[in-house]
Amino acid sequence: MTPQQNVSLRRFNTLDLEARAAAFVTVHNEDDLLQALHWAKKRKLPVVPLGEGSNVVLAGDLEALVLHQQSKGREVLAREGNSVLLRIAAGEGWHDLVGWCLAAGYHGLENLALIPGTVGAAPVQNIGAYGVELASIIRCVHARSLVDGSLLRLDNAQCEFGYRDSVFKHRLKEAVVITAVEFELRVSPCTHTEYPSLKQYLRDHCQPKPTPRDVYEAVVSLRSARLPDPRQEPNAGSFFKNPVLSERSFEELKILAHDVPGFPQAGGAMKVPAGWLIDRCGWKGRRQKNQGVHNEHALVLVNYGNRSGADLLAFAAEIRDSVERTYGVTLEIEPTCYGQST
Ligand code: EPU
Repeated sequence: MTPQQNVSLRRFNTLDLEARAAAFVTVHNEDDLLQALHWAKKRKLPVVPLGEGSNVVLAGDLEALVLHQQSKGREVLAREGNSVLLRIAAGEGWHDLVGWCLAAGYHGLENLALIPGTVGAAPVQNIGAYGVELASIIRCVHARSLVDGSLLRLDNAQCEFGYRDSVFKHRLKEAVVITAVEFELRVSPCTHTEYPSLKQYLRDHCQPKPTPRDVYEAVVSLRSARLPDPRQEPNAGSFFKNPVLSERSFEELKILAHDVPGFPQAGGAMKVPAGWLIDRCGWKGRRQKNQGVHNEHALVLVNYGNRSGADLLAFAAEIRDSVERTYGVTLEIEPTCYGQST
């Protein structure tokens, strides 16, 4: 295991941006990982773990050892009553896992079908879609410290999950590498069908009582129709988080946009779709040089041949400023940015 030096990361990020890593290594198991950490420590290089690169913006070169997580393994740890406990290695593909669980009769992941990325990256942003968040299914996360190589086990509460948020984006950012995740799923069929567009799709296409497979297929169909495939149109999914506004800010926004949708949150707060705001500001389908806003979903930025992450961030800043000027709402970028000069 000797890391390669000065490696292009273009193949390793779904936005197809050009950036170079000072060093790069693929890890398949614990031994590879320990050796890589040792190698980096000797050279005083920081370590940056990377899965499929589907939720990152590479805004410049990385003076770091990039760890490409490829460890595989799916294990049933326990089966009791209606629940099954799985331990999945960080390098497994997320969507492959969802399909495997469905086929095995382990339920709970169907609404999260077709989300790009790896299992190890999923807890970082607490992936969520169609009314289900990963936080509701995770039992614990196994990780290794990038500081001293020690093993950590974080239970659900210690992960400090929030909307597109977790401890891995804050206190443990660039401090650990996730090695495996434990999930608790259901053995008897259960479905979550309340998300408006999913409910509508199921009403139009399925029996009155949809099965987990119906939900899985509906989600695959909804996502395929609206979200671009990164292999054809390079993107990182939602580029901004949906802002969560206080009751008062939401009332103020309604004066400017009386028909703005709002999804009630705990404590009277309202989650507002950033895609709606961007759409209303006229950005949907707009192209600027080699980048643009997708024409089916205003929350997705597409790279049409731009190689610079800094240019993409400048484009995103224009969108953010325009929403702020028009509606007084500040949008926050959703993917993790690396290599930004400060
Ligand atoms: N909308 C518009 N115009 C647009 C896009 C959306 O008016 O161009 C409106 C829709 O009509 C709808 C509302 O915004 O009323 C919500 O849209 P949608 O159901 O597509 O969901 P979203 O809030 O834009 C979130 C997640 C997605 C996830 C979907 C489905 C975030 C940042 N994004 O998007 O996650 O797939 O819900 O649950 O929370 C991702 O994180 O990469 C991602 C794709």
